[in-house]
Amino acid sequence: MIDFDRISRDRLPALLRTAPKAELHIHIEGSLEPELIFRLAQRNGVALAYPSVQALRQAYAFTDLQSFLDIYYAGASVLLHEEDFFDMAWAYLEKAAADGIVRTEIFFDPQTHTARGVDIGVVIRGLHHACQRAHQEFGLSAELILCFLRHLSEEDALATLEAALPYRHQFIGVGLDSSERGHPPEKFTQVFQRAAALGLHRVAHAGEEGPPAYISGALDALGVERIDHGVRCLEDAALVQRLVRERVALTVCPLSNVKLCVFPTLAEHNLPRLLDAGLVAMVNSDDPAYFGGYLNDNLLQTFDALAQLGARQAYALLRNSLEASFASTGQKAQWVAALDRSFADVAA
Ligand code: ADE
Ligand code: ZN
Repeated sequence: MIDFDRISRDRLPALLRTAPKAELHIHIEGSLEPELIFRLAQRNGVALAYPSVQALRQAYAFTDLQSFLDIYYAGASVLLHEEDFFDMAWAYLEKAAADGIVRTEIFFDPQTHTARGVDIGVVIRGLHHACQRAHQEFGLSAELILCFLRHLSEEDALATLEAALPYRHQFIGVGLDSSERGHPPEKFTQVFQRAAALGLHRVAHAGEEGPPAYISGALDALGVERIDHGVRCLEDAALVQRLVRERVALTVCPLSNVKLCVFPTLAEHNLPRLLDAGLVAMVNSDDPAYFGGYLNDNLLQTFDALAQLGARQAYALLRNSLEASFASTGQKAQWVAALDRSFADVAA
């Protein structure tokens, strides 16, 4: 038994930084730093709408999800070759290993690239190669989740899934992202059914900007195992009860939520209330290059802003991240044991 009361708040930053953790909500295209965007633009002869790294960074002032997505899709236009996808993923994976991440389940948006004429094999092979190398070099377990863009049609999503089938064993699941409002989960019922039949895991963004009904819809129509964001669930008490009862994990992204104006400040984020309600919440980075920080930045800034969060909550968030991953039960038990040791050592 870990005596959480023996861990004072001033010991939390070091503990949060070094403890083992999983990241289950990271868009790899959202890890593309402005410096790498410019390097790839030059390497590939792609023209950018911004004259410098600084000018691009200055444009990162978002008013909502759509204002971010417009810039995010433009940034991804520099990715053309397998090596570009490798370089992007490798840059993230090096940071992830340094953050104490032992497992990462990485979202990628193939339609953003295939729409520009890039072959889906180029995308998947480049990303998968980086994941394999991270395992060899850092012992970091890294897997891919193929996301469908919800502003496009279900037919397009179905065609994308079929095109990805030669690489079926290089990704572990499917997700749903992009513009939430006006694109309810029910629009993608068939493609998620097809993914289930293929034995793929299923997750979806819901309740970020969209209403709590999109969370229930993702569970009922799409059969998802986790909800990405889900912070608006607190508007519906019956839904909260269901999420607690069914232990549906919520991959919460605090810095993202502030940058996209879901919450005015980190101090007003509902993470403490989500945990108090008994929800299986955890912290993730979403699009770290755009929102001002990677996973440890999210954890440290959130704990700094919210005095209600202490050692018990730190442990719960990290443990939830490991347990909600799609790794094997045996592997998860090993990581949780390592997490327990890191907290027990500080409490001793
Ligand atoms: N794609 C990248 N980041 C996203 C987010 N926060 N919500 C929906 N789609 C996204
Ligand atoms: Zn996201």
